[in-house]
Amino acid sequence: MWPYPKIVAHRGGGTLAPENTVAGLRAGLARGFHAVEFDVMLSRDGIGMVVHDPEFGRTVAGQGSVAGTDAVDLSNMDAGSWFGAEFRDEPIPFYTQFIDFCKAQRIWMNVEIKPADGFEAATGAWVAKVTRDSYAAELVTGDSAGYPLLSSFSYDALAAARDSAPELPRGYLLDTIPADWQQQAQALGVVAIHTNHKHLTTELAAQIKAAGYGLFCYTVNDPERAREILAWGVDGFCTDRIDLIGPSFA
Ligand code: G3P
Ligand code: MG
Repeated sequence: MWPYPKIVAHRGGGTLAPENTVAGLRAGLARGFHAVEFDVMLSRDGIGMVVHDPEFGRTVAGQGSVAGTDAVDLSNMDAGSWFGAEFRDEPIPFYTQFIDFCKAQRIWMNVEIKPADGFEAATGAWVAKVTRDSYAAELVTGDSAGYPLLSSFSYDALAAARDSAPELPRGYLLDTIPADWQQQAQALGVVAIHTNHKHLTTELAAQIKAAGYGLFCYTVNDPERAREILAWGVDGFCTDRIDLIGPSFA
């Protein structure tokens, strides 16, 4: 049983705003989205920031790295101009800013733990602790739909998240599904497998569902493909095309 939203805006607002910015969350809200995926990486001083790439250059103007820069400096960097001049004031957000915004606007979060190399366990532990502390009241009710789903491609990050806040649900991101996926999933205590829809088959989908796991796909931008994988039993997916695929897509 999948208690989470089915259609999730990828990297904040998909293609409608610079990725992983508050402007993205606003773009999603304007389209009726109350479900978002985004990426969290640690700054040099160990603070979670909402950003995808470990190095600057693509979405963040300048040279250097997230892990080599303090949070306060990251929070003053331009993460919007690459997308359009009107977004030049969009900074790299603090993870806690995203939590506050999403709580206030009742947006469900799929928090992707995105560690820089060498910071896998530290990032997983930090994200899990801060999320658990921020959602303490929701956790008391035991309503799993009320609190975020953490996910990561990093086994070590998920293991650290499990040890830091075992009560938070976790999903294991796998680009392709390895033969021993179920052993890994069991060891990590995840509730869901998050996988690249391009490599998913109807047989694999059936296997994952039959084993009792949630099945979430990234990043599905074609409505026809979305209908196909939903028919295979996929529980949900994230999309960049929030202009094409709405929150109540079926
Ligand atoms: O969480 C799913 C998806 O976001 C994984 O890919 O590179 O967009 O973080 P990426
Ligand atoms: Mg991501």
